Amino acid sequence: QRGRDQPQAGAGEEPGPGAAGLTGPDLDAAPAPAGAGRSAALRARMEERLLSARFRFINQQLYTCSSRDAARLFQTDPGAFEIYHRGFARQVGRWPENPVHRIVRYLRRRPASLVVADFGCGDCTIARSVKNEVHSFDLVPLSPRVTVCDMAEHRCHSGLGCSFHRGTLMVAEVASRFEDLRAFLNAMAQLGFKSVSKDLSSPFFYLLEFTKAGPPRPRPVPGLRLLPCLYKRR
Ligand SMILES: C[S@@+](CC[C@H](N)C(=O)[O-])C[C@H]1O[C@@H](n2cnc3c(N)ncnc32)[C@H](O)[C@@H]1O
Repeated sequence: QRGRDQPQAGAGEEPGPGAAGLTGPDLDAAPAPAGAGRSAALRARMEERLLSARFRFINQQLYTCSSRDAARLFQTDPGAFEIYHRGFARQVGRWPENPVHRIVRYLRRRPASLVVADFGCGDCTIARSVKNEVHSFDLVPLSPRVTVCDMAEHRCHSGLGCSFHRGTLMVAEVASRFEDLRAFLNAMAQLGFKSVSKDLSSPFFYLLEFTKAGPPRPRPVPGLRLLPCLYKRR
């Protein structure tokens, strides 16, 4: 469980998605070229602020709407997806560690014969970084490697299919989104995923490892719901 001094969902200081990288427009703005006038610098700063505001808005929408609506948002406005990914990449660049790199290291320690499914793959970092056969899924294809799939729907347009029958599931998620980790783990158990290990050492994200131990139980699992990341402008 997080302590009082750790980041909270909803707090603008949080280094999770939507936070650090894009909340300090003065820091983020590209330096004006030598000799450029004040107006060019001002313009660059304003553009940066607009981008930051747009990113925060998209991020908030993503965390508060259904995944079906998120897919619709990105389909109708592909520019929104690009801004979201640019913003995400910038902020993760400011974290001490990028969670996806942890997963890459995890995979490299295991046999390359393992088949990997990356849900919410973004720019396919995992597929680009390991020798394994990797199936990359996302709401929107940032690259031709991506199979478009809403993981909430469990219906993927690929031969692999998204139903998870056996194997290991890794979850990397912003720490402050877990209001009640125990309830989350219980809910995962209801879905047939047994907790194998949890790394809660980072204040930024949790890394949870599960093994598929059996079929899901046919009842609602409310403990799966995570807090949204809503950010104030700093
Ligand atoms: C924060 S980004 C992380 C990208 C990548 N995993 C990484 O670490 O670089 C989250 C990704 O999850 C995708 N996503 C969100 N909801 C999804 C859903 N319901 N189904 C599939 N992908 C989803 C988003 O489109 C986005 O690309």
